[in-house]
Amino acid sequence: MIILSIESSCDETAVAVTRGGRTVLSDEIFSQADMHALYGGVVPEIASRNHLAVVSKLADAAIAKAKISKSDIEAVAVTNAPGLIGALLVGLNFAKGVAASLGVPLVPVNHLRGHIAANYIAFAELEPPFLGVVVSGGNSVIVDVRGYTDMRILGSTRDDAAGECFDKAARVLGLPYPGGKPLDDLAKSGDDTAFRLPRPVIDGAEFDMSFSGLKTAVVNIVHNAEQKGEELNKSDLAASFAAAVSDILVPRVMAAAKLLGYGKIAVAGGVAANSRIRADLQKASVAQGETLYLPPLSLCGDNAAMIGCQGYYEYLAGTRGNMGTNAYATSERSDTV
Ligand code: KG4
Repeated sequence: MIILSIESSCDETAVAVTRGGRTVLSDEIFSQADMHALYGGVVPEIASRNHLAVVSKLADAAIAKAKISKSDIEAVAVTNAPGLIGALLVGLNFAKGVAASLGVPLVPVNHLRGHIAANYIAFAELEPPFLGVVVSGGNSVIVDVRGYTDMRILGSTRDDAAGECFDKAARVLGLPYPGGKPLDDLAKSGDDTAFRLPRPVIDGAEFDMSFSGLKTAVVNIVHNAEQKGEELNKSDLAASFAAAVSDILVPRVMAAAKLLGYGKIAVAGGVAANSRIRADLQKASVAQGETLYLPPLSLCGDNAAMIGCQGYYEYLAGTRGNMGTNAYATSERSDTV
């Protein structure tokens, strides 16, 4: 089955063509990061306008690169939640138009389910059940993936997403947006024990996480040093920060994996590209006897191939959109993605 898929939930416009869910025929991505870097973060209206300007051209390019004709497309999958509303609406309306003009089904896809599905593209053998972990710019969730379209949230962040925290910490360290990768690079030469940073625990919610206190701690350290005119070792602070994020995330992931007993953990989202988190997850998984699935960096960030892949399983499960399908800033339910 050939699916055209569209992703526009944040600042990447992406269109892909997939076959049979897991085979990617083309995957076009236009990142707007440079445009938002001027403002130190994503400006929703600028994101929406840029999606509008490029989505049609990207779709033409994706179809051409996949060497298919429009009449080969059997369904159109599109991200409709969670994300920036204006940004989502551009992709959703474009998808509705394409589906209607081709006379094929529209399949709405949850963005977080899409991130998890990036693992199906990377690992042909991976099938549910497994523990899914999504750590991205807008979300941080630990999910019981019981089936391709049957998922339960076990834990999530109570405040900021891990990626948001990376981006803010990077900003006060004077690094460019999006700051996760530059901070990761800076951390490699630092001492991760140089700064004592908080690792909050939430009473009665063993898999929930909190990152906002950590963000504030880094901001305060940088501002205090500036006020006192002290030179700060930025590599040490970056390394201490990355270690703290990892120490908040990894033990919860391992405890959730132990509870479920599936023996498989699949991680996804932009922050899954972080070298400290990847190394810590690998070490902990070996120690606990879990098989760890970490997609290549190209599939960690936002892309449309993952939406096409999840769209295929949604299609098989009977998920269908229509002209009234709406976009949502958050997932529609709090217990599942
Ligand atoms: O998954 P993604 O592309 O977008 C969302 O769905 O949110 O994730 C983007 C986030 C940004 O916050 C970015 O700074 C972060 O992923 N990121 C990283 C790394 N690469 C990207 N964070 C930490 N270390 C990295 N190497």
